[in-house]
Amino acid sequence: MLSKKMQEVLNSQMNFEIYSSYVYLPMASYLKAKNLNGFYNWMQIQIQEELAHAMKFHDFIVDRGGDVIFEAIPKPNSKYNSVLEIFETAYNHEQIVTGRINDLIETALEEKDHATNAHLQWFITEQVEEEASVLSVVEQIKLYKDSPNGLFLLDQELAKRVFTPPTK
Ligand code: FEO
Repeated sequence: MLSKKMQEVLNSQMNFEIYSSYVYLPMASYLKAKNLNGFYNWMQIQIQEELAHAMKFHDFIVDRGGDVIFEAIPKPNSKYNSVLEIFETAYNHEQIVTGRINDLIETALEEKDHATNAHLQWFITEQVEEEASVLSVVEQIKLYKDSPNGLFLLDQELAKRVFTPPTK
């Protein structure tokens, strides 16, 4: 059974994961409109991953006998001027998510909720991967910013990303 406080913060994170997918949707639109199909593929998978993260919180709340509460999702920024801006924004967003996961663990420890703490360890590992994945794209865009050929090759590389559903 989840404590009231734990249920509240887990629901907040479930909603934030849905919001994350919403943050990435206008980025995907921009990339699609620019015919950067590899970048677009990368971002589409990111959107799927965020929804999978949301469902992982959803299922955990239900499994622990909690109530799932869906909130209104805030409007995301839809104005972007460059691919670099998009990926730098995504990197900042992932750092915010990491901070939130750390805060959730603090709450789980305060509440002596070891099951939630164990569940959150998956997200700790996932966030290391999430940050590294976006940062690598940021660094490569910076490297190739004056080389259309380099950006073309990066686009081809990002086309290879595939969605792997998270383990339960
Ligand atoms: Fe769900 Fe990208 O963190």
